[in-house]
Amino acid sequence: MQAIYFTQANKNCSLHETDIPEPGTGEVLIQLKAAALNRRDYWIKKGIYAGAKFPCIPGSDGSGVVVKTGKNVNNDWLNKSVIINPGLKWGDNPDHHGSEFHILGLPRQGTLAQFVSVPETSVWEKPDTWSFEKAAALPLAGLTAYRALFTRGRLKKKEKVLITGAGGGVAVFLTQFAVAKGAKVYVSSSSEKKIKKALGLGVKAGVYYNMEGWEKDLAELAGGKFDLIIDSAAGENFEKFPGLLNVGGRIVIFGGTAGKIPEMTAAKIFWKQASILGTTMGSPKDFENMLDFVKKHDIEPVIDKIFPMVDTELAFRQMENHEQFGKIVIKISDPF
Ligand SMILES: NC(=O)c1ccc[n+]([C@@H]2O[C@H](COP(=O)([O-])OP(=O)(O)OC[C@H]3O[C@@H](n4cnc5c(N)ncnc54)[C@H](OP(=O)(O)O)[C@@H]3O)[C@@H](O)[C@H]2O)c1
Repeated sequence: MQAIYFTQANKNCSLHETDIPEPGTGEVLIQLKAAALNRRDYWIKKGIYAGAKFPCIPGSDGSGVVVKTGKNVNNDWLNKSVIINPGLKWGDNPDHHGSEFHILGLPRQGTLAQFVSVPETSVWEKPDTWSFEKAAALPLAGLTAYRALFTRGRLKKKEKVLITGAGGGVAVFLTQFAVAKGAKVYVSSSSEKKIKKALGLGVKAGVYYNMEGWEKDLAELAGGKFDLIIDSAAGENFEKFPGLLNVGGRIVIFGGTAGKIPEMTAAKIFWKQASILGTTMGSPKDFENMLDFVKKHDIEPVIDKIFPMVDTELAFRQMENHEQFGKIVIKISDPF
């Protein structure tokens, strides 16, 4: 089969020929039709993701058709079109993952390949009306967004929510899900074009997070403070978030794209009875609930661009330059 390899940190990725994996006990072999990129793949490519090892076949998101089953797997899976939950071995506790939790695409072979073998428990039937590209765009980012907003953030209808970095793959799902829930949604972004696109998804207003005084402009536009802030950037702006919260407000954080969080004033957190909550991907139940939510609200993932497998390096450059609004999808070529 052909697969995308990271051969060394900080090198262009390349297409190589390798063996088709054998499905182990309890696993299914999937012929992939589409995959999608996540920032995680980019961090691995740069060699700065914890546990990054080379060579590796990256990719957490994928959809395709089951072509072989391993031992102890129901044969009914054969020829089914599926979507993969990339969060493996979450564990028994819905509140947090256990010690064996890991993500498809490192250390295990990922989805930027013509075939991947995954546990039967990680596959879900793809609705017939969803394209393989739509199904591939959804898993990691949709799951992270769902848990951040609802399981951890406890977002309710009519609440006011701020989503930072409007153009990000997860941020676009956060926006779509929060709007579908009936919340009042505001965003921040580095780009006017992306704020306009977010407005098209039902957002009330947006501000530039790089502009001095953005937090005052935002509070004015929103006519007050926020019940929930969802952030994946951290960095200097994080320190402004407690001041933007209503009493009893929540901040949910799932990434650190902009670096470390600077000093914060403790009183802004305890006097507001504020909660700062970390979240990472989601449980199998979160995944199931996310798929149901997407079906119920007929949510169409925003795909920025679909690249052929041979152009995966160009797709990574687009991510590196923060050019995308939504997901970057890779169409996996059929084996000869
Ligand atoms: N813990 C988890 O389970 C989990 C899951 C998924 C992702 N993540 C992490 O979450 C982050 C986002 O992931 P993603 O896949 O959505 O990435 P992505 O599609 O590459 O989006 C990154 C976005 O970050 C925004 N950004 C950059 N600097 C910012 C700043 N100073 N303030 C606010 N926003 C800023 C940009 O938004 P604009 O273009 O609008 O400026 C950019 O589009 C990454 O750090 C990733 O590793 C964690």
